[in-house]
Amino acid sequence: MLVSATEMINKAHEGHYAIGAFNINNMEWIKAILLGCEAKQSPVILGVSEGAGKYMCGYKNAVDMVKNIIDFYGITVPVAIHLDHGSYEGAKAAIEAGFTSVMFDGSHFPIEENIEKSKELIELAHSKGCSIECEVGGIGGEEDGVVSAGEVADPAECATIADLGVDFLAAGIGNIHGKYPENWAGLNFDVLAQIQQQTNGKPLVLHGGSGIPREMVKEAISLGVSKVNVNTECQLVFAEATRKYIEEGKDLEGKGYDPRKLLKPGADAIQKLVEEYVVDFFGSAGKA
Ligand code: 13P
Repeated sequence: MLVSATEMINKAHEGHYAIGAFNINNMEWIKAILLGCEAKQSPVILGVSEGAGKYMCGYKNAVDMVKNIIDFYGITVPVAIHLDHGSYEGAKAAIEAGFTSVMFDGSHFPIEENIEKSKELIELAHSKGCSIECEVGGIGGEEDGVVSAGEVADPAECATIADLGVDFLAAGIGNIHGKYPENWAGLNFDVLAQIQQQTNGKPLVLHGGSGIPREMVKEAISLGVSKVNVNTECQLVFAEATRKYIEEGKDLEGKGYDPRKLLKPGADAIQKLVEEYVVDFFGSAGKA
């Protein structure tokens, strides 16, 4: 069932669990994530970056692929297709193409411009029944040229964007996309608690979900994070399983070169990871 992400995120926020927003790249990714979430009866958000949108031959094709795969497998859990880190133009294009949720990332703009554009896009998204996430930027974490902490958002700025009626808010609390450096400072729970308080309990989004220690993610969820974004981890398990298949020479045995065989171990690895995450990590299993 393709739906906006509002209801699933609000329920997660009330129930102190989180919805996984897993990034997709192609048919294998969509199948693996949807089958994993159906098996564990978890609602799910499929994230599409602007780059992945182009890779999948446009937003419309991404929406159609997701819809058709939902129909083909008879997926019953709530599914949202969500633009990840959308630009102002990208968010408009994704809404037009039938996305059920979008993120507008105006965090690199001066705060006044971020507010103005967020306000306009929130109105547009809501007029189409689409949920919307906005991002508030903040202080960089670089010291002596070494990035040991991600950005940390200003709770007062978060409150201003929350008051515009955004459905869920991405605010940096030291999180980083991709692999975390050895000397990473960890998540800033004091700031997270302040943001939650100053936004009157707006559901919050944790980006960069890959590689954060589990106890930290669980604590963040208990403090108001209701959506956790995961991208790199799925890419890593896919690449690892595919490498193993090739290194074991399986592509050279019989018709092991058939793409349906060659891509299967990677897709199975993504499904396994998603199932494990929704059960042990996010607590969204059984909440569909
Ligand atoms: P990771 O690649 O670190 O999991 O981050 C994903 C993300 O935040 C997408 O917006």
